[in-house]
Amino acid sequence: MASVTSLSASVQQHLATALSAALPEAGSADPLLRRSDRADYQANGILALAKKAKANPRELATQVVSRVVTGEVIEDIEVSGPGFLNITLTDKAIVENLAARYADADRLGVPFAENPGTTVVDYAQPNVAKEMHVGHLRSAVIGDAVVQLLEFTGESVVRRHHIGDWGTQFGMLIQYLDEHPHELDHKDSRVSGEEAMSNLDRLYKTARRLFDSDEEFKTRARRRVVDLQAGDPHTLATWQKFVDESKIYFFSVFEKLDMEVRDPDIVGESGYNDMLAETCRLLEESGVAVRSEGALCVFFDDVKGPDGNPTPLIVQKSDGGYGYAATDLSAIRDRVFNLKANTLVYVVDARQSLHFRMVFETARRAGWLGDDVTAHQLAFGTVLGKDGKPFKTREGGTVKLEDLLDEAVQRATAVVREKAGKVGLTEQEIEENGRYVGVGAVKYADLSTSAVRDYKFDLDQMVSLNGDTSVYLQYAYARIQSILRKAGEARPAAHPELALAPAERALGLHLDQFGETVLEVAASYEPHKLASYLYQLASLLTTFYDQCQVLSADNAPEVVENRLFLVDLTARTLHRGMGLLGIRTPERL
Ligand code: ARG
Repeated sequence: MASVTSLSASVQQHLATALSAALPEAGSADPLLRRSDRADYQANGILALAKKAKANPRELATQVVSRVVTGEVIEDIEVSGPGFLNITLTDKAIVENLAARYADADRLGVPFAENPGTTVVDYAQPNVAKEMHVGHLRSAVIGDAVVQLLEFTGESVVRRHHIGDWGTQFGMLIQYLDEHPHELDHKDSRVSGEEAMSNLDRLYKTARRLFDSDEEFKTRARRRVVDLQAGDPHTLATWQKFVDESKIYFFSVFEKLDMEVRDPDIVGESGYNDMLAETCRLLEESGVAVRSEGALCVFFDDVKGPDGNPTPLIVQKSDGGYGYAATDLSAIRDRVFNLKANTLVYVVDARQSLHFRMVFETARRAGWLGDDVTAHQLAFGTVLGKDGKPFKTREGGTVKLEDLLDEAVQRATAVVREKAGKVGLTEQEIEENGRYVGVGAVKYADLSTSAVRDYKFDLDQMVSLNGDTSVYLQYAYARIQSILRKAGEARPAAHPELALAPAERALGLHLDQFGETVLEVAASYEPHKLASYLYQLASLLTTFYDQCQVLSADNAPEVVENRLFLVDLTARTLHRGMGLLGIRTPERL
C-alpha cells in the first residue's frame, strides 16, 4: 500500500511554493506550521523571513496569501496579527486523507524512513545468577518499544541482550556447584522460572557465605576463575549450567512481560571473550591506551576524580584481567565491523553514562566509531517508590520483578472484573484482559515519561481508569469495538462530501499526524512522545463522543457511516500505536 502524504505536509508544500514566489530569496524556508485553536493550522515563519529580507511582515504575508492556491486542500487562508497565517482545510481533503490511511490497514499510510540503515539495540541485559530488578525492567520495556518503532520505519534492527554472564564471581559459584553437584537438580524437567531463580539465589548466598568465611574455599574459588578464563572444558560446562538456569528465569520474566526475547539475540559479555586480547592490543599499539601502574588505561581531559586526578577507563587490569570496558569495546568492534551497524543504541541506566561516554570516546579515537557510525546511550532514570526514594520492599530489599508484575496483574484483574458484568466477559477473558491491562499499565507508566527522568512506581495510579494511563487508552479502544459491534448493518465508510463537526475535524487532524509522530519518535528514541500522542488521541475521542453521536437514529445513514469510519480509524491507530509500545488492546473490556 502506498504511503499517505500528511495534510500538514501538503499545506507546508502549498505555503512553501507561494512563499518562494512572493520572496524568491526565501528559497525553501520553513513556514513553521503548527496546529492552532483559531484555525486548523497557523504558520509563524513569515515574521522572521520578512525581518531578514527587511520587508513588512504583514505585506509579505498578504502576498503569500494571494499566491496560495485554495480549493482542493486549503479552504481558507488569512493574515492575522503581525503576519501570521491562519489556515483552514477543506472537509473533503481531511476525509479523503483519512480514507487513504484507512485503506492501508497494515501501516495506516505511514511512510518508511527515507534512509533506513542498521541499528543494534542493546537492551534487556540482566545478570546471570542474579535476580532481575526494576532497572532491568526499564531497559527491557524501553528497548522493546524502540526496537518495534525502528522496525516499523524500515530500519534493520539487530537486538543484543548483553547479559552479565562473565566475571570473577563465577569462580565461587562454579567451585561451590562442583562441590555440591546436585544443587541445581530439578524435581521436574519443566522447571519454572521462579524455581530456577530460587535455586540460583540459594546457591549464590551459600557460596558467598562460604567464600567469606572459609579461606581454603576462597583459594579454590580463585583458582576456578583462572580455569574459567583459560577455557578449561569442565569449568566452562559448569559455568554453562548457571547460564542455562538463569535463562529459564529470564525467559519466564520476559514472557510475563509479554515481550519477545529470542535466544540467538542473547549475546552476553562472554560472547566477546575471543576479541578482548586483540581489542587491547589495537588500543595499545595505536597509543589510544597506555600502561599505567601495570593497567591498560585510556585517559580523558575532562574526566577527573574527586582528588582532581584523571580517572581513566581501565581496559585491562594490572593482573591481566579484562573488565566491563574491554567487553563493551569489543562489542563495538563486533557491531560495527561484523554486523555492519550504522547506529548503536544502548538502553542502559543513566548511572552508567560516564562509562559509555568514555567507551564511545575511546572507540572514536581508535577509529571504530567514525562519521558513518553513531553511538547513543538511551539513558534512563531511576525507578522510585511512592515515597520518592529508590524503589525497595518494605523491608528495604530489592523488589522482585515477578512479584511486582504479579501484583500489577492482580490489581488490573480486579479493575477489569468490576466492569466485566456489563460487557459480559467470561472468567477466561477477565483473566486474559487482567494480564494485558496489568502488564500494559507497567509498560505505559515507564514509557509515558521521558526515559531520562526518574519515575515513581505507583500501582494505584498505573491502573487508574482516569488520566494518562494505558487502561484509559485500552478502554477507548474497547469502546470503539463495542460501537462497531452495535452498529448492526451499518458499516464504516468515508463520505468526503459531508461537512465535519469541530470535534470530528480535531480528531481527523490528529489522526493525520500519526505517521509523522512515529517517524519523529523513532528517530529521536523518544517513545514517551508516542504515548502522549496516543493519550491526546483518546482525549480527542472523548470530546468527539460528547459532541457527536455515532449510532443515533437522528443521524442520516451517511453520517453514521462516516462516524463509524472515523472511530474505526481511531481504533486502528490506537491499536498500532499501542502495539509499537508493546501494549495489547483487548477487543472487549
Ligand atoms: N548487565 C548490566 C547491568 O545489569 C547492563 C549491561 C548494559 N549493556 C552494556 N553493553 N554494557 O547493569
